[in-house]
Amino acid sequence: MQAERGRLRSALIVRLNRGPGIVRSDDNRGTVHGRVALVLVDDVRSLQAEKTAAHSAGYPQCVRPGNVQAQGGGQMGFADKVVFVTGAGQGMGRAIVRHFGDAGACVVAADINADAAAAAVAGYGAKGLALACNVSDPASVKSAFDTVAERFGRLDVLINSAGIGSVDAFLDTPDDNWMRVIGVNLTGTFLCCREGARLMQKGGAKGAIINVSSTAAMSGEGPSHYCASKAGVMGLTRSIARELAASGIRVNTIVPGPTNTPMMAGIPDEWMQSMIKAIPLGRMCEPEEIARVAAFLASEDAGFITGQNIAVNGGMAFI
Ligand SMILES: NC(=O)c1ccc[n+]([C@@H]2O[C@H](COP(=O)([O-])OP(=O)(O)OC[C@H]3O[C@@H](n4cnc5c(N)ncnc54)[C@H](O)[C@@H]3O)[C@@H](O)[C@H]2O)c1
Repeated sequence: MQAERGRLRSALIVRLNRGPGIVRSDDNRGTVHGRVALVLVDDVRSLQAEKTAAHSAGYPQCVRPGNVQAQGGGQMGFADKVVFVTGAGQGMGRAIVRHFGDAGACVVAADINADAAAAAVAGYGAKGLALACNVSDPASVKSAFDTVAERFGRLDVLINSAGIGSVDAFLDTPDDNWMRVIGVNLTGTFLCCREGARLMQKGGAKGAIINVSSTAAMSGEGPSHYCASKAGVMGLTRSIARELAASGIRVNTIVPGPTNTPMMAGIPDEWMQSMIKAIPLGRMCEPEEIARVAAFLASEDAGFITGQNIAVNGGMAFI
């Protein structure tokens, strides 16, 4: 069993190193440094036309500048709520955007990959907004939330799904890799929580923030920076849940187990089967299952839940 776990860990580390979605140098994407590029879903002219139409009766309230009264209704009551998702370009973030968007919400898809963010909100017209945003860059994050304030005038739900890993044995961990993983996973979550909560308070919304940790934070089965960053997210959540409760903002952490996203794609089948064997429900989580839990936590049905870790792992660990 010990040997099998060791093999699995090595496999994951190899995958983390090679994966298309997980290991990124922000410096390779210079277009997003220090600024946010606004990527409109449709062309600017059609957006302008829709914005003008928003002033007439019948247009979704969430796209009316200065609106502070979102309406309920729709699947789980998200019609016209404004929902901001980081890491929205693929994997869990993308599934979350589609879930809320299909439920009638105005969805803001933020990702370091601008094209992927734009694809995530395709089809939502003026109710979708794609932003190129590097969550580890304070200026980029501030600019993104300023854009949301200008466009929608409010924020109801923030989901911090952006995350990266890196493959480093602890004793050989380069400083840069430590900084980068902590920078995206923990500092990025902090920066978005701070800007998001400010906007929620300004818009008068009773908001919900959902952060994304990992089972690795509890088990230690992962590189040190990744595990530390994800454990940090749990502490951050608890602290700000207490502080923001008085203003009606709830903050919770989803703690996923292995989930079928690009981050996990490409693991050799043998190792995948071995990982799945450790999951009592006998399979990986699907990103849509994370989206449904996020929707529950964002809804009034979860109105008395704050500061909690919500495990979504098929029974592989209890927290
Ligand atoms: N997939 C799993 O098995 C699993 C398990 C536990 C926890 N998680 C966590 O869940 C979250 C989502 O994971 P996923 O599997 O969907 O990952 P993914 O790699 O499929 O998607 C991550 C997204 O984040 C974006 N991103 C990366 N760096 C960014 C930055 N600096 N700024 C903005 N966006 C950035 C990427 O472009 C990508 O679109 C992550 O925080 C991850 O650590 C994943």
